[in-house]
Amino acid sequence: MIKQCRSDNSGHTNCIFMIRFQLKLLLLGFVNYSGTVPVSVSGEKRGRITLTCESEAREISDISLSSRSEIIPVCPTEDCSGRVYKQGNCDVVFKNLSFSDAGTYFMRVYYSNDQTELERQIRTYQLHIQDEVSVKTGEELKLDVLLSIADKVQHQSRRSTEWMKVWSRTDGVQSERITIRDRNLIINEFTARDAGSYRVLGSEEEPLITVTVTESKEIQDDTDGTKHRSYWIGLTPITVLVVLLVLIRIAVTSHKRLHIPYLPGVTQ
Ligand SMILES: *[C@@H]1O[C@H](CO)[C@@H](O)[C@H](O)[C@H]1NC(C)=O
Repeated sequence: MIKQCRSDNSGHTNCIFMIRFQLKLLLLGFVNYSGTVPVSVSGEKRGRITLTCESEAREISDISLSSRSEIIPVCPTEDCSGRVYKQGNCDVVFKNLSFSDAGTYFMRVYYSNDQTELERQIRTYQLHIQDEVSVKTGEELKLDVLLSIADKVQHQSRRSTEWMKVWSRTDGVQSERITIRDRNLIINEFTARDAGSYRVLGSEEEPLITVTVTESKEIQDDTDGTKHRSYWIGLTPITVLVVLLVLIRIAVTSHKRLHIPYLPGVTQ
């Protein structure tokens, strides 16, 4: 790096090299501080997820969990009212997951070593939440995915391998059919082409949320049977009408056959 700076005859370029070098050092420092590469953890919305700490330390005195510079309260057991609780030595479980749980988490594990000094390990986790929804054709598809940390939303249709931009923090929505309400991304008049996967990425391109959207058939969605009943009720008058029409037709043709020899057009 220093060599490049010397051989360069533009003072401006020298300066840029220097800044880059310092940035790299800063980033290295950050990586060291936050422990290792983030562990990716995926869970279903309303399901549960475990952040495994895998600490070999015997004497863990405390753990603390934080995300977006905020401390996340961790219950000592599952029985308390919170959704986040400690399990075993130092694992942390999240239950009834929601989209807003997505993001980066830091777990600090404080433990005593053989010299009875308090030491600290930091682990990083990347939480990704998945969900599945089905929408009827023509209705609106409402995705509650625009978290404060969301940077872009992409769509991949069922038969495609490409991710198309739907929304980004800098450019907004990419189609006239899409509107934003509260934190929701709303796609109006859903069609089969809107089915597929929608993924939300953070500022570092890290996946936060993935929603799989399928097109629902009306009968499949009928859980209480009301539509089924009205379907049959609706069909009965039609059936009666069809049967009547068929009967009339039979009556007319048989009447015609019976009278063919006496019809004026045929006899003369
Ligand atoms: C799960 O969380 C949602 C809100 O995100 C809440 O409405 C629901 O009652 C919770 N379910 C349980 C079983 O706690």
